[in-house]
Amino acid sequence: MSMSKRRAAITAVGHYVPEKVLSNHDLEKIVDTNDEWIRTRTGIIERRILEHGATSDLGAGAIQALLKNRGVSANTVDLIVVATVTPDMFFPSTSCLIQEKVQAKNAFAFDLSAACSGFLFALVTAAQFIENGSYRRVVVVGADKMSSITDYTDRNTCILFGDAAGAVMLEPTDDPDAGILDHILRCDGSGERTLHMRGGGSLNPATHETVDKKLHYIYQDGKAVFKLAVVGMADISAEIMERNHLTGKDVDWLVPHQANLRIIDATRERMGLDKSKVMINIQKYGNTTAATIPLCLSEWWQTGKLRKGQTIVLAAFGAGYTWGSVLIRWTLENAA
Ligand code: COA
Repeated sequence: MSMSKRRAAITAVGHYVPEKVLSNHDLEKIVDTNDEWIRTRTGIIERRILEHGATSDLGAGAIQALLKNRGVSANTVDLIVVATVTPDMFFPSTSCLIQEKVQAKNAFAFDLSAACSGFLFALVTAAQFIENGSYRRVVVVGADKMSSITDYTDRNTCILFGDAAGAVMLEPTDDPDAGILDHILRCDGSGERTLHMRGGGSLNPATHETVDKKLHYIYQDGKAVFKLAVVGMADISAEIMERNHLTGKDVDWLVPHQANLRIIDATRERMGLDKSKVMINIQKYGNTTAATIPLCLSEWWQTGKLRKGQTIVLAAFGAGYTWGSVLIRWTLENAA
């Protein structure tokens, strides 16, 4: 007797970005940098900043957009998984705060921490609940208010980050050739040395000294992270293609984490993809950590470029280190 595997498919997308724009020219006025350097080294032109509110407001905004797109009410949601490194507070979890804000009264909720790979880790985790049949409607959110942990006197990091949220809904499909088809997730904890925020946790609880030492901000050794991110993201994207017998011609979209245009380009080349097949919006938003990938999916769906039946590869690399790739056959009719 053959049993077809139940798969998790994305049945709605949504995103939220704050209105305030922080451009490269704005940054020129606060640190020793220039538009030309930022554009050529990273691909970023501007990013968004949330002036009032917290990560849960970004996440709630993305879910509200998603529910509107799906045409269902919040009380039909079974579970909310939120990936973030900028929770509103230590506890309760940001996902609980979001559950209250969107009034998803029947949902349980939890946060998950995997930095820039957070959305992929959350997506794969959430998919398990659909595949094993325990829940039917799960919302996965990537949300980060990176401006809350960014040192705007440090030109090495303050040019990189922005605030945003993106969300997807997962529901079951019986089509064995649709939805989330495969995934690879990895981590290497030695990455803590080159990319971290050490203040405020149980290791270094907040004191005047931790504030003076700037331990409550992102620290990144950009060069060291860059080298590993280029290899990590390219390798894991090539690996998921190879084990699914796909060539560059078979993949319709690469949906990469948006940390640096040069990292994205190296990944695309390794996959043998045409330049036109890569989702890139880093110029508008910078690195929004857990939000980058769902923000791309939502924008490309909204503009009608992401179509039902297309084969897409999601790929990310981030703090931990964490990295991963996910293969999806897109099941959602386009909006346009
Ligand atoms: N404006 C102008 N000059 C700057 C600058 C800025 N904002 N930031 C750094 N510089 C300078 C440096 O001081 C350095 O000067 P020096 O050669 O006199 O010492 C020079 O530019 C080159 O710096 P470097 O750090 O080697 O640049 P880079 O090409 O590695 O680019 C990053 C820096 C951060 C953009 C890049 O390393 C990167 O993207 N890293 C990975 C980020 C990532 O993927 N993170 C994981 C997910 S969060």
